[in-house]
Amino acid sequence: MKMSGSTAAAAVFLALVVAAAPLLVAAQPAMAPVAAAAAAAPANNSRLETAYVALQALKRAITDDPKNLTHNWCGPDVCNYFGVYCAVAPDDPCARTVAGVDLNHGSLAGTLPEELGLLTDLAVFHLNSNRFCGSLPNSFRNLHRLNEIDVSNNHLSGTFPSQLLCLPDLKYVDLRFNNLCGEVPSAIFEKKIDALFINNNNFDFKLTESFSKSTASVIVLANLPGLGGCLPSSIGDMAGTLNELVLLNSGISSCIPPEIGKLDKLTVFDISSNSFAGTLPDTIGHMKALEQLNVANNKLSGEIPESICSLPHLKNFTYSHNYFCGEPHRCFEVPHIDDRQNCIAGRPDQRSGEECIAFLHRPPVHCDSNGCIALPSPPPPPPPPMHYAPPPMHYAPPPPVY
Ligand SMILES: *[C@@H]1O[C@H](CO)[C@@H](O)[C@H](O)[C@H]1NC(C)=O
Ligand SMILES: *[C@@H]1O[C@H](CO)[C@@H](O)[C@H](O)[C@H]1NC(C)=O
Ligand SMILES: *[C@@H]1O[C@H](CO)[C@@H](O)[C@H](O)[C@H]1NC(C)=O
Repeated sequence: MKMSGSTAAAAVFLALVVAAAPLLVAAQPAMAPVAAAAAAAPANNSRLETAYVALQALKRAITDDPKNLTHNWCGPDVCNYFGVYCAVAPDDPCARTVAGVDLNHGSLAGTLPEELGLLTDLAVFHLNSNRFCGSLPNSFRNLHRLNEIDVSNNHLSGTFPSQLLCLPDLKYVDLRFNNLCGEVPSAIFEKKIDALFINNNNFDFKLTESFSKSTASVIVLANLPGLGGCLPSSIGDMAGTLNELVLLNSGISSCIPPEIGKLDKLTVFDISSNSFAGTLPDTIGHMKALEQLNVANNKLSGEIPESICSLPHLKNFTYSHNYFCGEPHRCFEVPHIDDRQNCIAGRPDQRSGEECIAFLHRPPVHCDSNGCIALPSPPPPPPPPMHYAPPPMHYAPPPPVY
């Protein structure tokens, strides 16, 4: 794969940040007071002065720091602050700048101040497993070098942080386990990101064709009760990049389009606990990289295609709690299967005969060209009345009273 100049520069910058991180952490406790004072001197550059303003604003906005993580956030030497990582500025080999903030698992409570937008060289912002509330500052639109944002497992609220949409280098977006609500802008699927985690929020949106434009290798949209729409048949367009797709427990009522079979790099496909209906397309047997397949707890029916159970790397195939009526012997060679609560004759722990027969009497599922379950054609309208009838009187005059 070819890297553009700016991507390569960003990768080097990131590598420096990541490489610097353990060194800085290791250096902190060992640093003698004299060395610390000497280290403070290089803080004499405008980028670090600006970072000082931003980080002090963050410190003030933290209302509880039970692990005492920010106790050394004093003075101008921001590169020595716990959880703050400096690197050589990508555009000035003589200037050091704040390239990373990593306060994962800090249990910090507070809000994220607008001043964080002053950290314009920030490449990595990791704040997972804290108790930050409120929303991401609008000023995040200025973090034009931001590569990774992980604010998962906090108490963030408000709508999808659309200020992320204009960040050109963003690759990793992790917003899961927050209280974010509203639409997920389809533009997020059109950005060149590598991983998107938005599961366990209160987003309310529909999967559309734009979903298939994503070039992410990992997409997790699970546990989103407000997610609707259908798995678009254009999903095959993601074949070049998609490695893991997790849509579990998200109110999707859909067919599984046969084009899914084009995803030959997908290793994990989990659509469990939705309302998928119809049959499992035997094209899934073309998904040669598949290791984990979970379609449990849907309304799928028909036979399990033998092609699926013949997949060379399939380790775990879970199809319990559906209405499948048959599975080929080949499936018993998959290292782990779960076929409970279906309608498969001769297998243990299946649905009752009444349930299976009632299901068989339902009208068959038809899928439309968008991958959606086609609605049954509406009953013919009642015939128009044969006789002329005067229109009902809306303003009947009151009966005269004498
Ligand atoms: C600090 O910065 C000022 C202005 O940029 C400069 O004149 C001065 O020499 C610097 N001092 C040190 C110790 O780098
Ligand atoms: C935090 O750590 C500093 C330095 O170890 C110590 O002086 C301070 O008392 C601690 N504060 C709390 C609240 O534990
Ligand atoms: C198989 O997948 C199911 C569903 O994701 C999971 O609950 C189960 O633990 C897995 N089993 C094995 C043996 O990997």
